[in-house]
Amino acid sequence: MEYTIDLQKFYCDPYPDLAIIQSIAPVVYVPQLDAALITRRSDIFKQEKRVDLFSSCQPDGLMVQLMGENMMRKDGAEHQEARQKIFPSLSPRTVKQVWRAEFERSTRVVIEGLKKKKAFDLVRDFAMPVSGAALVAITGLRQMTPGQMDKVSQAMIDGCSNYLGTPSVTQACDVATADIDAHIALMVPELTDSPDTSVLSVLIQAGQSLANIKANIKLVISGGQNEPRDAIAGTAAALLMQRNALAKVLHSGDWGQAFMEYARWMSPIGMSPRRISQDCIVLGHDFKKNDKVFFMFGAANRDPAVFATPETYDIDRNTGPAIPFGSGPHFCAGAAVSRVLIAEVALPQLFKAFPDLELVDHVKWGGWAFRGPVSVKVSRGPS
Ligand code: HEM
Repeated sequence: MEYTIDLQKFYCDPYPDLAIIQSIAPVVYVPQLDAALITRRSDIFKQEKRVDLFSSCQPDGLMVQLMGENMMRKDGAEHQEARQKIFPSLSPRTVKQVWRAEFERSTRVVIEGLKKKKAFDLVRDFAMPVSGAALVAITGLRQMTPGQMDKVSQAMIDGCSNYLGTPSVTQACDVATADIDAHIALMVPELTDSPDTSVLSVLIQAGQSLANIKANIKLVISGGQNEPRDAIAGTAAALLMQRNALAKVLHSGDWGQAFMEYARWMSPIGMSPRRISQDCIVLGHDFKKNDKVFFMFGAANRDPAVFATPETYDIDRNTGPAIPFGSGPHFCAGAAVSRVLIAEVALPQLFKAFPDLELVDHVKWGGWAFRGPVSVKVSRGPS
């Protein structure tokens, strides 16, 4: 089964095409992406665990070429070993005992700055520095600024999806990765002498090779900046567009529900790629070795077989079956960080500091592999 998309329209809003793709067959080849898309929630939930067939190893892929071989492009025992090495930095316990206080402090600084303004953009002026500051702390690259974090993260994401090979995009990605390498080199001596719980420090302590450390730090930066940024600004936007939902959350204090329903509704990471390891027939589709497959989390999170009125942001919904963090061995390593940063720190602090926040412009959304609001313009309201 094949389905043709218009890439520009797909970027603006992938959901109409994804709904059609989901309805016609479990596996649909999209020539513009040169990939077979798996879109139904139950299929992704089951097949993502079959790493023998759906492999993450893509040595010739853009990510490995540009950022080095990180754990997201490994399978089985090798992947598990790399994941265990990074775990002490991103575990729920470390997040609670170490990072939470850091997030609270750096978010307060951003909010104090916003108090001087009457109007601002929640993406650029709030979510971006909050997410960037969190990542500066977590990575251990303390000489970087939040703005630099955002810039290098975006350059790597652009580089990894530069399927047309545009030279300026590759060049910007190379500059970003060289910048990160320089910051790692700067911090290695200090963190070797005085270890802490940052990703760089725990990987040094675990004896990971410098090449792997560099690749995994780049993975954390490319995977840990724009999703929290987009989810913070996007959840705030969803609540400001639905004042009754905001009123409920302000009453219940359940920011976790507001965030998880956002992550279901707008899936900050819309897909995860895999490579077929051998000729096989799965879900009635005849796969050939090396075929490209995309697990489409964004489509799964709006599967009408699982979610009623899936296109609606519904604050009362059971988000349990949603899979915005994945559903296999590569399940987001930063899930605990995200929940605390977004739902326990950023959103409650924002709405406490600015109780009369209101949207002053229509919210525009963009992206399908990574999706979020382009800007969320707000005013502080009458107070
Ligand atoms: C709203 C926030 C976030 C969302 C929705 C999200 C989502 C995802 C998804 C869908 C995957 C791929 C899962 C798969 O293929 O099965 C992933 C992997 C990953 N994420 Fe996140 N992520 C978020 C935040 C973060 C943060 C803050 C960090 C780091 C601080 C992070 C680090 C990672 C890493 C290292 C992986 C690779 C895990 C592996 O290969 O084992 N993510 N994330």
